[in-house]
Amino acid sequence: MSRSAHPAGPRHADVLPEGHYSAPPADLNSLDPKVWSRTVTRDDLGVVTVGGIDVKTLAEEHGTPAYVLDEADFRDRARAWRTAFGTEADVFYAGKAFLSRAVVRWLHEEGLNLDVCSGGELATALSAGMPADRIAFHGNNKSSEEIERAVRAGVGRIVLDSFQEIVRVAHIAQSLGRRQRVQIRVTVGVEAHTHEFIATAHEDQKFGIPLAGGQAAEAVRRALRLDGLELIGIHSHIGSQIFDMSGFEVAAHRVVGLLKDIRDEHGVELPEIDLGGGLGIAYTSDDDPREPHEIAKALTEIVTRECESARLRTPRISVEPGRAIVGPTAFTLYEVGTVKPLDGLRTYVSVDGGMSDNIRTALYDAEYSVALVSRVSDAAPMLARVVGKHCESGDIVVKDAFLPSDLAPGDLIAVPATGAYCRSMASNYNHVLRPPVVAVREGEARVIVRRETEEDLLRLDVG
Ligand code: LLP
Repeated sequence: MSRSAHPAGPRHADVLPEGHYSAPPADLNSLDPKVWSRTVTRDDLGVVTVGGIDVKTLAEEHGTPAYVLDEADFRDRARAWRTAFGTEADVFYAGKAFLSRAVVRWLHEEGLNLDVCSGGELATALSAGMPADRIAFHGNNKSSEEIERAVRAGVGRIVLDSFQEIVRVAHIAQSLGRRQRVQIRVTVGVEAHTHEFIATAHEDQKFGIPLAGGQAAEAVRRALRLDGLELIGIHSHIGSQIFDMSGFEVAAHRVVGLLKDIRDEHGVELPEIDLGGGLGIAYTSDDDPREPHEIAKALTEIVTRECESARLRTPRISVEPGRAIVGPTAFTLYEVGTVKPLDGLRTYVSVDGGMSDNIRTALYDAEYSVALVSRVSDAAPMLARVVGKHCESGDIVVKDAFLPSDLAPGDLIAVPATGAYCRSMASNYNHVLRPPVVAVREGEARVIVRRETEEDLLRLDVG
């Protein structure tokens, strides 16, 4: 059974097209720069290095599995987004993709803002010194406690997601003697071509207030009436892992239509429009993501054009990339435990992690790449499936991949592009301990999230 809502291509479906894996790559030792972080290379001995450190050293010092994050690449990508949008727009990094205090500090230093969607993310951001006015608070069911904490901290904006929340936030802000800056999240009716579970702007899902039936216009009416709120703009997020800009075009058209209606009805021109995140990255060599400057140019042109034709002042644009910044900057380093050839089918390669450190393959039929990284090999390619150590046959990390046929227990393999939604969605299934995140830069490795221990597990189990 496919859970895909759209025939969005093989990367989103659970059946690979005929012949998809008939041609192994010409060189199994090569590392496609599209899917590996920017400082990744092989040293003279054929061992993969990142940030100037080889993976054997990383495995010896930090163990496996481990998420290895290329700090220079992260900073470069964050800066590229910031520069691409310039001073006329704001970039909010979506913390749900991966958040830690080190990451918050890097973002702060690189001039980005931060989107959080829970009390836990807010606490992480504040404890690492992100100024509250550079934080946006999201979520479809923020608790009153979370809202109060955000208002007290002075977050730059709360993104309102329902009629109840409009009243709730207004009440809390007013009772604290504050006027909270807010945006209203609308659903524009765009069906982004991505997996159903990560598409968010069609109407039959839980986020936002539909433009359809005048509901968003009614939300605006109510928000404008409440003293505790300062309505600064409209927010739209159409989904994730999107390559095609046409969804953003339709979204911008419809959001600007709402801004025009608001101007006509209330005589108010809202100063901001947030187009959310969702820009895709390369998980395999088949994916062709756009560069931040192309995205910035396209989005700015779309909004400017739409506003000109509606005779509106162009609002300040903000965007919320998560995956596009952190996704490509990390790989997961695993040690091979067993290699099991199944005649006529494929070879199952079991690693020391699995669905607890990367649920995306099981959850979204996501495709990944994989490579032998502790050495090079001239052996013939074998069709492999990389699986984890969990008690579940759906525990697949990479569904179909070519690896050298001399692969053996003790080899290190790595899965690139696991920076986003892997550590942040990791679990303790089967009481497997969550891996550390090791940041590497200029020959130094630093643990920014430590490996979980059995003590950590037992501490929560109060007996
Ligand atoms: N802004 C809002 C309001 C969002 O809901 C999201 C993602 C983002 C920004 C960032 O989207 P990004 O640029 O990272 O695609 N777990 C799924 C993705 C869920 C995304 C949820 N919201 C996955 O692993 O693909």
